[in-house]
Amino acid sequence: MGTDIKIAVLASGRGSNFKALAEATSDESFPAKTVLLMVDNPDAGALAYASKSGIAAEVVDCGSRRGSMTPESSESMAELCARHEIDLICLAGFMRIVKGKLLDRYAGRMMNIHPALLPSFKGLDAQEQAVDYGVKLSGCTVHFVDKGIDTGAIIIQKVVPIENDDTAESLSIKILREEHRAYPEAVRLFAEKRLKIRERRVFIDDE
Ligand code: GAR
Repeated sequence: MGTDIKIAVLASGRGSNFKALAEATSDESFPAKTVLLMVDNPDAGALAYASKSGIAAEVVDCGSRRGSMTPESSESMAELCARHEIDLICLAGFMRIVKGKLLDRYAGRMMNIHPALLPSFKGLDAQEQAVDYGVKLSGCTVHFVDKGIDTGAIIIQKVVPIENDDTAESLSIKILREEHRAYPEAVRLFAEKRLKIRERRVFIDDE
């Protein structure tokens, strides 16, 4: 379909959310297509799936500072997105704070998935934080990206109960299953132009 929006995914590692998005959007009837993968790490597992499925992939050196990206890398990614006519950027396990030109250009058009019910357990190792804190419910959140860390307007959340014998590892597996459902749902709503942001609340148009 000529009106499909184009998605770029940013990942750092395994890439199971990238794969979930690429698979969902490869369906003819899905109103978006995944056309670009950008990673900050040449060993990212996500690269193998991109190559197998014919999705363009780029490794961008984001600098040696953990969790942060250089202005040059932000600019390179913004240029790659322009070249591929990207409408929406999905962060999927991208372990750096996005800032600079990329964020400026894609404000309101960049999403992230986080493995907790925000605003609880922001940042790294969210599943371990949830188990250690002793909460009974956790889950995942898809949200728009703003300048803060995991602070943007919330689009979708899915809840996962935590059992007494759960560990960070077992909880991660349960949450990941929900992530793979939540992310394509959020992308579909965006592509269908059904997301309306007022203040920091995201409303979903029924039709
Ligand atoms: C996912 O659980 C994602 O929510 C998390 O990293 C994992 C990436 O897995 N992201 C964060 O923790 C970001 N703060 P994947 O590479 O298999 O998609």
